[in-house]
Amino acid sequence: MEFFDLIKARYSVRAYRPDPISEEKLQRILEAARLAPTAANRQAFKLIITKTKGREEELRRLYHREWFIQAPLIIGIVATPELAWKRRDGKNYADVDAAIVMDHLILAAANEGLGTCWIGAFDPAVAREIFALPENVEPVAFTPLGYPADSPQPKKRKSLSELVCYDRWA
Ligand SMILES: Cc1cc2nc3c(=O)[nH]c(=O)nc-3n(C[C@H](O)[C@H](O)[C@H](O)COP(=O)(O)O)c2cc1C
Repeated sequence: MEFFDLIKARYSVRAYRPDPISEEKLQRILEAARLAPTAANRQAFKLIITKTKGREEELRRLYHREWFIQAPLIIGIVATPELAWKRRDGKNYADVDAAIVMDHLILAAANEGLGTCWIGAFDPAVAREIFALPENVEPVAFTPLGYPADSPQPKKRKSLSELVCYDRWA
């Protein structure tokens, strides 16, 4: 898809068909995530991919919305802050890196005709338990990955004049 069409076409999908995703599509989506930039190229993240089938009860505990488990796959991104780049004042970029990787993944999925929805409101304790995460890693986001069963709504966004300023904060 042409880049700007893709940006406009992506939306948060909150209903999915259970149809399987081909391995080729999945690999292209994962490759887009792999090529994402990270601060100082530290790549301090891991993607966890899991099939929903057979794990419905656990995944419901992770994020309690029926549509979350309708898609055939769930993908999570987990950061390792101790390996991520830190600015001199101590700010850790692990979450920023993870967000960029997830955005690459989500846009690549839309380009394959697949739906996603950023999930930030998951239960981190459940994520640690069901994916056996070690102490030193941080689950950042999850998304279902599957064919959409809903349609996009018009995008509600602030105007550019509210979001952009020039030369100084205004
Ligand atoms: C960091 C982040 C966290 C989000 N967490 C959730 C979530 O937990 N549940 C949900 O339904 N949508 C979640 N969303 C989706 C947003 O609500 C959605 O992107 C926004 O309303 C704009 O709509 P659009 O994605 O359809 O353009 C999240 C989005 C982002 C970027």
